[in-house]
Amino acid sequence: IKTRVGIVGGGPAGLMLSHLLAKNGIENLVVESRDHETIRNTHRAGILEAGSVKMLTDSGVDGRVLTHGDEHEGIDLRFNGESHPLDFTDLVDATVTLYAQNEVFVDLAAARKRDNGDVRYSSEVTAVFDLETETPKFHFTDATGTDFEVHCDILVGADGSRSFCRRAVPGTQDFKIEYPFAWFGILTEAPKSAPELIYANSPHGFALISQRSETVQRMYFQCDPNEDVDAWSEDRIWSELQRRVDGPDGFTLKTGNIFDKTVLKFRSFVREPLSHGRMFLIGDAGHTVPPTGAKGLNLAFADVKVLFEAIDSYYSTQNSTLLHGYSDLALKRVWKAQNFSYWMTSMLHTPVDADPFMAKRALGELDTVTSSRFGQQYLAESYTGWPHS
Ligand code: DHB
Repeated sequence: IKTRVGIVGGGPAGLMLSHLLAKNGIENLVVESRDHETIRNTHRAGILEAGSVKMLTDSGVDGRVLTHGDEHEGIDLRFNGESHPLDFTDLVDATVTLYAQNEVFVDLAAARKRDNGDVRYSSEVTAVFDLETETPKFHFTDATGTDFEVHCDILVGADGSRSFCRRAVPGTQDFKIEYPFAWFGILTEAPKSAPELIYANSPHGFALISQRSETVQRMYFQCDPNEDVDAWSEDRIWSELQRRVDGPDGFTLKTGNIFDKTVLKFRSFVREPLSHGRMFLIGDAGHTVPPTGAKGLNLAFADVKVLFEAIDSYYSTQNSTLLHGYSDLALKRVWKAQNFSYWMTSMLHTPVDADPFMAKRALGELDTVTSSRFGQQYLAESYTGWPHS
């Protein structure tokens, strides 16, 4: 198969890039190892920066993010059992949209299908090579077991945190840190407990009260990375979540049937540089953030924007300056998001064996942030997303 841009990975990053390239007449092929149903049922975060929403709507993916997404004007930081609302509209004149990542995938996949995009699901990439030449190549085996060799001008690794593409080449350096905790995530058939998302720091650990719709809610609580979901009955989950949001105001979670339970492990990771010859890494393939603050998908879309503009400029001017600059430019936002995600995570979580000093220090930090308009603005600006370059 000959194509211009070969994209390994058909999650939101790979499909968004494919969609933008196709719109500008740049032929591309997407190869994805999982099937459509599996990706559709992979629950991830649900907060989109305005810039991410704009990428979906401006490019004509679909308006469903506007009709089905829920605009949020702030969050609630809860600590010492008290609520501290942050009003993003007032603070930084920006909002975010709650729209689940799997819905973003569904919309992008439908748009690629509508526009006759070439997306091969259930197709495993088995080799990437000739990356330092003008014609990078890869091999894949499709759902029927047939092998293909793809020749392209540009190869994009959009294949997630366990990226085959990334692991096929050496980088200058991999930066990473691990966290001694994970998230226990649930989906429940219950009404909203509060209008805005609640990020809670408690002596029993972190909890996040998020939403999906009027009737379905998403919640998480900090847990051991090796926690067994089967050890958690509904009653046990609800009492654990409730004690993390307990306070003198008597705030009470609205409960319901729990129909999904998962332990989400996470880490902070960056590969530098984000390119190798004619291969470029985007999204989780190049970097992952802990989930607190929901930067993962937004960061992936920011990579897509930078890389799309570079590829587009390459085909319209035959000049590869922007392609050469992709890694440095994308990494600037990556490190801002790494800092923000690490900061939110460390400020809101309490490691099980935490030194009591550190737990008190985090409360001092939360108090500093919430009691100052500058502090609130700092958080609000990062949460809603820095301007795109
Ligand atoms: C969700 C996940 C996050 O990590 C976050 O910061 C906010 C919301 C979610 O799944 O709804």
